[in-house]
Amino acid sequence: MTAKHILLGISGGIAAYKSCELVRLLKKQGHTVSVAMSRAAAEFVSPLTFQALSGQPVLTDTHDNRHEGNGMAHINLSRRADLMLIAPASANTLAKIAHGIADNLLTNLAAARNCPLAVAPAMNVEMWHNPANQRNIARLQQDGITVIQPQYGEQACGETGVGRMPEAAELAELIPDLWTPKTLAGKRVLLTAGATFEAIDPVRGITNLSSGQMGVALARACRAAGAEVTLIHGQLQVALPAGLAETVRADSADDMFAAVHQRIAGCDVFISVAAVADYKVGNRSAQKLKKDGSGRPPVIELTENPDILASVAALPHAPYCVGFAAESERVVEYARAKRLKKGIPLIIANQVAQTMGKTVNQVTLISEHRETALPEMSKSDTAAAIVAELGKLLP
Ligand code: CTP
Repeated sequence: MTAKHILLGISGGIAAYKSCELVRLLKKQGHTVSVAMSRAAAEFVSPLTFQALSGQPVLTDTHDNRHEGNGMAHINLSRRADLMLIAPASANTLAKIAHGIADNLLTNLAAARNCPLAVAPAMNVEMWHNPANQRNIARLQQDGITVIQPQYGEQACGETGVGRMPEAAELAELIPDLWTPKTLAGKRVLLTAGATFEAIDPVRGITNLSSGQMGVALARACRAAGAEVTLIHGQLQVALPAGLAETVRADSADDMFAAVHQRIAGCDVFISVAAVADYKVGNRSAQKLKKDGSGRPPVIELTENPDILASVAALPHAPYCVGFAAESERVVEYARAKRLKKGIPLIIANQVAQTMGKTVNQVTLISEHRETALPEMSKSDTAAAIVAELGKLLP
């Protein structure tokens, strides 16, 4: 990820405390963060806290002359920034920016900026739904300002509803999307990820070593590229991504099959990353299996699972289907055959031992006329490269 200069504006609201952690996380990602606060924000969190966390002077006054240059902080600060982010953004600050009012440092910075602006509103549920606020939000979006949607939940005032600013970790995950090319804008993508689990009895089952890292990385990369993303997942050893349209837990292959087919209509792309068990237990026991004293192990009968990917590819209005082929030998040869057998335009081949549970992998993209071997890299870089290629391949 390339290091950016982020100008973080903080307006008055209790959510300002989350921005302390946000500064730390953005710096950890390698970015430089300068903080500007409204006077009301400085009542909630001390500018000194942000100064210590950002390692930069924190300005609160339009005419603060601590800033180098011509003493015009409200102009200079955004000139070095790749992004201005106001988080939290109060209803008052949003209203002023929507109307071009510049009467304090934050609103002056927003008016005089020459970089993109994103806002993370935080306010009481009634203030959020207030028609004047909604008009302002629509106006800001029309003006090309990114509005990071507030979330539903319990609010500091004790009421419950939409208006909570996302947690710092979520914002830190979503912000780099702002400078990712929107190669999948307007596309709906459905993905499967993780390991399926086929129950033998109420406490035991058959699963595999998939960690879900690749599927989760691809879901993030599709979201960053502007797609509306639904993720259907089995067992994951990594956290779910932020900012998806829907995430659905489906443990067995049958549950995953049903969850996919309930949601596939209208999707442009289906990416099947889940490591789906080929077989399920035909004689699953409703009770925990007990040793019967004979010394003979119980007989577990396996029956074949549906092939989710092949079933989606065979639909009359099938989306663009992408499969994965994790092979232990003759990787590319087997993957080519699997692409044809499943009737899909693109398959990603990789070596089982080099990918499962690892944070890096090396894959080969195989389509009808092209085979591209990507270098070994992190799964998130691999996911970004696959999504860039997908953007070119989609009709
Ligand atoms: N897949 C699926 N449903 C299944 C099995 C696999 O959707 N029941 C998908 C996987 O998500 C992956 C692709 O098919 O995208 C290939 O999976 P893989 O396990 O490598 O292949 P199989 O179809 O199981 O074939 P084989 O057992 O011959 O390797």
